[in-house]
Amino acid sequence: MTVPGDKSISHRSIMFGSIALGTTVITNFLKGADCLSTIGCFQKMGVEITQKPDVIYVHGRGLRGLSAPSETLDVGNSGTTTRLLSGILAGQPFSAVMSGDESLNSRPMGRIMTPLNRMGAHITSICGNNCAPLRTDPSTLHGIRYHSPVASAQVKSAILLAGLYADGETCVTEPALSRNHTELMLAGFGADITSSLHEDGSATACISPCQELFGQDICVPGDISSAAYFIAAGILVPGSELLIRNVGTNPTRAGILKVCEAMGADITYLNTRNMAPAAGQTDNTSTAGGQAGCSHTSGQTLTGLPQNTGEPTADILVRHSSLHGVTIEGDLIPALIDEIPVIAVMAACAEGTTIIRDAAELKVKETNRIDTVTENLRAMGADITPTEDGMIIEGGRPLKGAQIRSHLDHRIAMAFAVAGLTAEGETVIDNSQCVDVSYPEFFQTIARI
Ligand code: S3P
Repeated sequence: MTVPGDKSISHRSIMFGSIALGTTVITNFLKGADCLSTIGCFQKMGVEITQKPDVIYVHGRGLRGLSAPSETLDVGNSGTTTRLLSGILAGQPFSAVMSGDESLNSRPMGRIMTPLNRMGAHITSICGNNCAPLRTDPSTLHGIRYHSPVASAQVKSAILLAGLYADGETCVTEPALSRNHTELMLAGFGADITSSLHEDGSATACISPCQELFGQDICVPGDISSAAYFIAAGILVPGSELLIRNVGTNPTRAGILKVCEAMGADITYLNTRNMAPAAGQTDNTSTAGGQAGCSHTSGQTLTGLPQNTGEPTADILVRHSSLHGVTIEGDLIPALIDEIPVIAVMAACAEGTTIIRDAAELKVKETNRIDTVTENLRAMGADITPTEDGMIIEGGRPLKGAQIRSHLDHRIAMAFAVAGLTAEGETVIDNSQCVDVSYPEFFQTIARI
């Protein structure tokens, strides 16, 4: 099987393509609701984006070519759209307003408003609660050195994008390295950007203002966050052997693979390679991974920080395995933050105790995922104790089918669909269409396998 294109990379390909010169050609783009929100926002700022069944063309307007939107920018359910777009809007000579759905409009935006306003931006929360709707007004931006209190790619990316429009270098240091797609892709688009990993695990990315970015051909790897549900299903359901082709394995995202291995799962990586975009890498003749138009380089390992060489990708073969509990903490957390709901399901099916800590960020995702995972795993009969920054799961009790409350959170709906595969009896998930945000075909695919 394959999974849809990576959500984080799909967002960024539209955003960076829109503010680049020339045409950006995107294959394997994720047509989930979140990424369609990003497309809608840039169309409202005058960017022509053509959607064909297999390819998207973004006709870039250049760094200073966006036009003032005549209405509110609808960011839907998408935190990535809101926070990254804030960084771009901070540098525009026009005012704009962003607003989303109820969940989005209750998520914390102070984390981007503080550093962006420190750069000189004028971003205000219209209701005065540090949440969207957000209004941006024109300003002059200065380069800053910012120490982010959270390891967040959305915060880092917002600041780096504003840095494109600043009067000097901008650096962001985060306590642990979060996903680095922005750094890799902006380098591919021609930005002057560097990144370094420090001995204590913290990481710094620096960007210099530039005249222009340049459109690229982008082949989006399969989303490891979507593959996670099938990796878990293949491991948990007796008799399974599942090959998931063309999955992005960037180490800043692949924490779930490390956890599965530590829990004792049988996983094999095949056909490991690097996919475009890469600086100067434009050979689009290969059809590796079944993706027409995708270039790649070969021989990459799954470890180490990729340095502007495109996105590491592999085919992942999983087999049914007996699992044991593990402790998940520290620098590993940012590399699997979105996968914790499905990891919790695996932990409930494992022998022994799993402890997840240093993951307070779970509280500010589409739902408070400490609460929503606890509520639903308990409904299925699991032994789980929520903590301030994670959860403790005593695995090994057989799960029983239950009524699952998704709270409109796509990752809760998908994680508990996997739990339902292993449970005795029927599982019913409410508002299951919320999976459209990141994986519209999820239920068709799970039915097929
Ligand atoms: C994302 C970063 C992460 C992740 C989200 C996508 C991105 O959020 O949870 O689903 O594309 O930059 P944070 O930056 O808030 O950790």
